[in-house]
Amino acid sequence: MTTSTVTTPLHATARELVGTGRGILAADESISTMSKRLEGAGVAPTGTNRRDYRELLVTTPGLADGASGVILCDETLRQSLTDGRPFPVACAELGILPGIKVDTGAKPLAGAPDETVTEGLDGLDDRLAEYAEMGARFAKWRAVLTISGTTPTRWAQAANAHALARYARSCQEAGLVPVVEPEVLMDGAHSLSECASITESTLLSVTRALTAAGVDPAGMVLKPNMVLPGAECPQQSSPAQVARATVEVLRCAVSPRLAGVAFLSGGQSPETATANLAALQELDVSWPLTFSFGRALVSPALEAWGGDPDHVADGQAALAHHVDANAAVLRDDRSSERTG
Ligand code: 13P
Repeated sequence: MTTSTVTTPLHATARELVGTGRGILAADESISTMSKRLEGAGVAPTGTNRRDYRELLVTTPGLADGASGVILCDETLRQSLTDGRPFPVACAELGILPGIKVDTGAKPLAGAPDETVTEGLDGLDDRLAEYAEMGARFAKWRAVLTISGTTPTRWAQAANAHALARYARSCQEAGLVPVVEPEVLMDGAHSLSECASITESTLLSVTRALTAAGVDPAGMVLKPNMVLPGAECPQQSSPAQVARATVEVLRCAVSPRLAGVAFLSGGQSPETATANLAALQELDVSWPLTFSFGRALVSPALEAWGGDPDHVADGQAALAHHVDANAAVLRDDRSSERTG
C-alpha cells in the first residue's frame, strides 16, 4: 500500500479533507463527554439534546465554505436531523464529508501507571464496513500522552503507536481515510522544548508503526498537537515560536508524503489556536497544514445556544465566525499554491 504513486479514491478523499483551504470540525465527543458539556451549559444531557446540538452545528449556513468534513460519534452517525435525513446523508448533501470516531476511549495501560492506551481494535473491521455503508468517508482515532517527570514512557508511546497503525491500515482497507491523532496533552508546566522533544519521539514511533503496517501516507491525515509549552509553564511562547517548533518536529518525524496535517486545538483558546495556525502558514512545508479543532470551534457555539431553540442562529453564528477565521488564515498565503 505504501509504494503506489497512482491516485486512488482514498487519496482524493484525503486531499478533499485537507487540501482545499478548509479544515475539519471535530464534533465527536463521546456520549459521556458531550453530556457533561451540555450540563455545564445548563442543558439536559438527553439523546435529543445531543442530536439538536449536532444538528445546529452541521446545518450552520455556509459551513462547507470553511469545513471540508465533520467528525461525528457513533450515536450521531445513527441519528437523523429533525427533517428525517440521517446525519451522514445530510452532511454529504451540505458539502461536508462525514467522518466517524471509531476508538472506544483511552483505558489504563498495564505496566504503565497513570498512562493509557486507546482501545477499540476488537471488531473494528466489521464496524468500519458498517460505517462505510452508512456513508462515512473518513475515521478518527485519538491516542493520549501526558508529559510529566516520568511520562510518557516508551511503552505507552509504542502501545499507542501500534494501535494507531492497526486502526489506520484497517481504515484504508475499508476505503475510509484514517485521521491519526496522537495527542501530547498541554497539561503541565513543561517547556516548549520539552513538548518538542516528546512530540518528536511520539510522532517518530507513530511513523515507524504506520510504515510497518504498510499504511499509505498519501491516503491518511495526521492530527497532532501543536508544539506548545504546558498550560502552567510560566514562559509562554509566541505564535512564531510555536509554529517554528511545530514544523521542525514534523519535518524530522513524519512522512513528506502525508496528504496533510490537521492540528487539534487541545484546550487552547479559540483566538490562540487561530493565531498559531496563522503563524504555521508562514512556513514552507510539504503538506497542507490545516485545523481539525473541537473545543476551539464548538465551545463558543454551545455557550451561545445554551439549549434554547430561539438561540440556534446565535450558536451557528458563533461557529461560523470561528470556522471562517481559521479558514481565512489558510487562504491568506501560499498554501493554496501548494495544494492546488
Ligand atoms: P480539541 O480541538 O478540543 O482538542 O479536539 C480535537 C479532537 O478531535 C479531540 O479528539
